[in-house]
Amino acid sequence: MSISPPESAHPESVLTSGAKVAAKSVSPVDVPVCRPRRLRRTDALRRMVRETVLTVDDLIYPLFVMEGEGLWEEVPSMPDCFRYSLDLLLDEVKVVHDLGIGAIALFPLIPHHLKDNAGTESYNPDGLIPRAVRAIKQAVPQILVITDVALDPYSSEGHDGIVNTGQILNDETVAVLVKQALVQAEAGADFVAPSDMMDGRVGAIRRALDAEGWINVGILAYSAKYASAYYGPFRDALESAPKFGDKKTYQMDAANAREALKEMNLDIAEGADIVMVKPALAYLDVIFRIKQHTNLPVAAYNVSGEYAMVKAAAAQGWIDERTVMLETLTSMKRAGADVILTYFAKEAALALQQ
Ligand code: PBG
Repeated sequence: MSISPPESAHPESVLTSGAKVAAKSVSPVDVPVCRPRRLRRTDALRRMVRETVLTVDDLIYPLFVMEGEGLWEEVPSMPDCFRYSLDLLLDEVKVVHDLGIGAIALFPLIPHHLKDNAGTESYNPDGLIPRAVRAIKQAVPQILVITDVALDPYSSEGHDGIVNTGQILNDETVAVLVKQALVQAEAGADFVAPSDMMDGRVGAIRRALDAEGWINVGILAYSAKYASAYYGPFRDALESAPKFGDKKTYQMDAANAREALKEMNLDIAEGADIVMVKPALAYLDVIFRIKQHTNLPVAAYNVSGEYAMVKAAAAQGWIDERTVMLETLTSMKRAGADVILTYFAKEAALALQQ
């Protein structure tokens, strides 16, 4: 672009009246040649040149299910998020579907007496999740059902793997995850989503699904999942906090970004259909980098702690919840996410209708 002196580029006759007033009050050499604000002048203009548009199609709603009948409990650290018994969950799934949300991700609250170190209940064909998937597929067949593959909701130790003298066993855990994924596929899950971060689990699950004929069941891989304090409220919801130590020997170090690409490459080579970054907000740079490196759809998980922070500040009257929510979700899409798991999905769907 050639830049000519302000006087010739903008003769007074073509300036708007506002600019004309301003032009008189400042020296001609100070008049800007380029005026980016021209594209922000009206709402129609801003919408026309908008680079990122959030839609309800981008959203996946995580839902918590528990045993019992007629029960619903708000998660204390996640206002407006509930754990539902299966009968009430079905009503909620109908509401979610009516709002135009196309997909849900299920997480179970498992009674403590069913938890053990090997997460045996995770592959019970009549367990809570397989029953929930079957019931949802019966009640709302169109909604996409994504099931979580990990041991922590079923683990007496609160870990994503089998524990042996303080260590998390990898390959033994993968063998259990495979059984869990097969039971979920059998129940009717559209996608299985391994969130455990054991090595080699995506490939093992893909091979087992294919061998059993589940060639159309997809894998949403938690590829870059960080050891994050932002998961606190979720662990309250499922009563699944680790009984000892932390998850740093399997989840990623918050300081690493190149390692996220390594994990992503492995998951793609092992057969992932969608790769995910989690958490989202403190890892927008990781979402951006991953997007540059793959043509697969990229998912971001707007996790429980990110949700809780917005809810808490809004409850104090310190921020405007609706605007902050939309700004945050848009930032994830702008960074490169095609799909966003968010506890705000219902509120966002409503806001986007207006
Ligand atoms: C565990 C799992 C976690 C979340 C999803 N799956 C917690 C953890 O890794 O400890 C967190 C989701 C959230 O915080 O919203 N497999």
